[in-house]
Amino acid sequence: MSKIGLFYASSTGNTEKIAQLIKEKMSNNEIDLHDVAEAVDNAMEKYDLIIIGVSTWGEGELQDDWEDYIHNLDSMNFSQKTVAMFGLGDQEEYCDNFLDAMGTIYYKILEHGANVIGAWSTDGYDFDESTALNNCEFVGLALDEDNQFDLTNERVDRWIEQITPYFNK
Ligand SMILES: Cc1cc2nc3c(=O)[nH]c(=O)nc-3n(C[C@H](O)[C@H](O)[C@H](O)COP(=O)(O)O)c2cc1C
Repeated sequence: MSKIGLFYASSTGNTEKIAQLIKEKMSNNEIDLHDVAEAVDNAMEKYDLIIIGVSTWGEGELQDDWEDYIHNLDSMNFSQKTVAMFGLGDQEEYCDNFLDAMGTIYYKILEHGANVIGAWSTDGYDFDESTALNNCEFVGLALDEDNQFDLTNERVDRWIEQITPYFNK
């Protein structure tokens, strides 16, 4: 079974906590955690199976460490890579930009040939606008630790069930 590279960054610790939770719950897979604040430029290249975790800051902006790191994705060929994404945001305070950073990374890696899996229904969320949508679904797992932390554990479990078959091929 191939190793999975999980790449995340986190300003207040929320995304980091979810990255660790996913690693714990996917204990049948070998997962390397990489905080992009410390990752080398080409760290993603050695993985064919990738999970990306990103929170949204400002008004629809990438979290700072992702902002510094994202240019590295431009020189990468994702055509052999399967990628699942999870995003953290606040659907109440930032209802016009909910999870936009997940959309920013999604459209970037799509442009570079990634096979992105793990789309997620918008049922159960209340927001006005998000760029993290494709065909009326979120492009990855949507998490809101600010307003719906009590739903996170169950959402992560269901999402892992959904993506695991693609990662165990
Ligand atoms: C100043 C500030 C700006 C934010 N901007 C957004 C935003 O535009 N969209 C969104 O969905 N969430 C936004 N959030 C919510 C964060 O993404 C959320 O709290 C997240 O869990 C933080 O994760 P982290 O600690 O891993 O960075 C913002 C939070 C703060 C404090």
